[in-house]
Amino acid sequence: MGKVVLITGASSGFGKATAEMLAERGHTVYGLARRTMEHEKIHYLTADVCDRAAIDGRVAEIIAREAHIDVLINNAGMGIGGALELATAEEIACQMNTNFMGCVNLCQAVLPHMRKQGHGRIVNISSIGGVMGLPYQGFYSASKFAIEGFSEALSAEVKRFGISVSMVEPGDFATNFTASRRNSEATLKDAAYGPVFSQSLQLIEKEEKGGLRPEKMAQRVAHIVECRKPRLRYVVANLEQKLSVAIKRIVPGNMFVDILRGYYKS
Ligand SMILES: NC(=O)c1ccc[n+]([C@@H]2O[C@H](COP(=O)([O-])OP(=O)(O)OC[C@H]3O[C@@H](n4cnc5c(N)ncnc54)[C@H](OP(=O)(O)O)[C@@H]3O)[C@@H](O)[C@H]2O)c1
Repeated sequence: MGKVVLITGASSGFGKATAEMLAERGHTVYGLARRTMEHEKIHYLTADVCDRAAIDGRVAEIIAREAHIDVLINNAGMGIGGALELATAEEIACQMNTNFMGCVNLCQAVLPHMRKQGHGRIVNISSIGGVMGLPYQGFYSASKFAIEGFSEALSAEVKRFGISVSMVEPGDFATNFTASRRNSEATLKDAAYGPVFSQSLQLIEKEEKGGLRPEKMAQRVAHIVECRKPRLRYVVANLEQKLSVAIKRIVPGNMFVDILRGYYKS
């Protein structure tokens, strides 16, 4: 039977591909983004995930129309690149508010309805950068590590209400994420960090542009929406990146940092 799904970041990349796939499969899909969108099978709503009052309003609109929300997919996100030492307060707030607080805002707005209806599924899009601290994407990684801790704790709190929480950890994918990344001007101009940052950035962008297609993510998220019992974590990545997640779990911490330094030449 079709479910009522609310997905954030539905105007581009994973979110758009997933919203389209779920709508094709007969689900009632509400897609949230800041820009205005139109689609014959997707109900698009505009809001910034950082704006809690706007989110509450959008959730109330969906409840008024559908009476329930079965699935929440927290996908909206962006990246800021640069050295941790040089990040400005505005950059840090933008990164953490969009990726982490956005997810918290949506969960807090939807959970009372899911508890009342006695079921629900929350899917939070993390990253393999939420499993390992990526150099020059440090606050991005921090925002995704925050999602990981939040999601694990939330799962333990809401299971008894019939609500499942899952995290998806994608590797590199070709989406608008690369073009939307904000890069720290201060880092680019800095004598100590600038050249290494520029070099890392070239590698990061090359891997993203040559990455997997967003439809692969959409297929996995559709599976999580429709399967009987979703897992807590899913890694969706190429073999090399899946291997790096496995290695991270078994090697000593300092050894893993050296592997990262070697890879990113940092
Ligand atoms: N691409 C990758 O390689 C990769 C890897 C790992 C994880 N991820 C994660 O996957 C998720 C989706 O990224 P993507 O690759 O599909 O990137 P994308 O193509 O740039 O899409 C990002 C989406 O987020 C929305 N968004 C950004 N800030 C927002 C805000 N403040 N309020 C509401 N919506 C906002 C954008 O819509 P508007 O601009 O219209 O608001 C857009 O729909 C992100 O959480 C990202 O961290 C991506």
